[in-house]
Amino acid sequence: MDPDRNFNELATRFRNTIYATARGRLRLAALTQDFADLNVLTPDARVLDIGGGQGQFCLALAQQGAQIHLCDISQEMLQIANEQFAENRLPLHSAHCALQDVDNAFPGNFDIVLNHAVLEWLENPLDALPILAQKVRPDGWLSLMFYNLHGHVWRQLMNGGLNDPLGANPKLRKHGNAPQHPLDPEILQRELEKLGFEILRWRGIRCIHDHMPQKVRERVGPEALADADLAYGLKEPYRQLGRYVHFLARKRH
Ligand SMILES: C[S@@+](CC[C@H](N)C(=O)[O-])C[C@H]1O[C@@H](n2cnc3c(N)ncnc32)[C@H](O)[C@@H]1O
Repeated sequence: MDPDRNFNELATRFRNTIYATARGRLRLAALTQDFADLNVLTPDARVLDIGGGQGQFCLALAQQGAQIHLCDISQEMLQIANEQFAENRLPLHSAHCALQDVDNAFPGNFDIVLNHAVLEWLENPLDALPILAQKVRPDGWLSLMFYNLHGHVWRQLMNGGLNDPLGANPKLRKHGNAPQHPLDPEILQRELEKLGFEILRWRGIRCIHDHMPQKVRERVGPEALADADLAYGLKEPYRQLGRYVHFLARKRH
């Protein structure tokens, strides 16, 4: 079994290949729309971003007045987060610590807990859920984004991986750049419900973008494509094909 994936040597590549691209912009647009639709952010909200990496999305929350606490096992990702907040003259409480030790670095609970694109890199993803749950205050929110099993399998099939659609792209896998555990949203939903959460938003992210041939993407253009992705990402059955799923789950009091 692989250990949890530290992003140290990937930090610069991550900034350039994820957030500087249409894929990254779609991810941010989807999260932004979900937070706005459900009125998640209250003035002065205390936010904890676990495995927060470079802090791109929580920077947007800080710009709206939230107080951000962020932890990660990668010192290099944290350094970029600290620089980005400093450039924007916004405070950031950051800690070099693992999800499994988050309670030591940031005791107590929070209005909003973010865990985005982390679970699939952990050795034991489901073990993380009670830790995340415990950090959310009653009536607070968990924003959970994870690499979707169904989107992964469909992409592998469309790429001709007919014999092993569950497997990862061998080149990515070799360099540790493929998430080790694509996750089944229904299993996560069940586990979160057991932990006292109600899922109020279930969105697929990049459910059109990643399955569309490059030539067609160029013809329709990035804006029309983003609009369609955001709209179909909320509809069954298309949302099931998203490369990522975003849940907004509210903790019962
Ligand atoms: C794909 S990045 C996502 C970063 C950020 N949440 C985002 O959405 O942009 C995954 C992050 O999880 C971190 N990570 C992996 N295992 C971790 C653990 N056990 N505890 C804390 N962070 C972890 C990695 O170092 C990396 O920064």
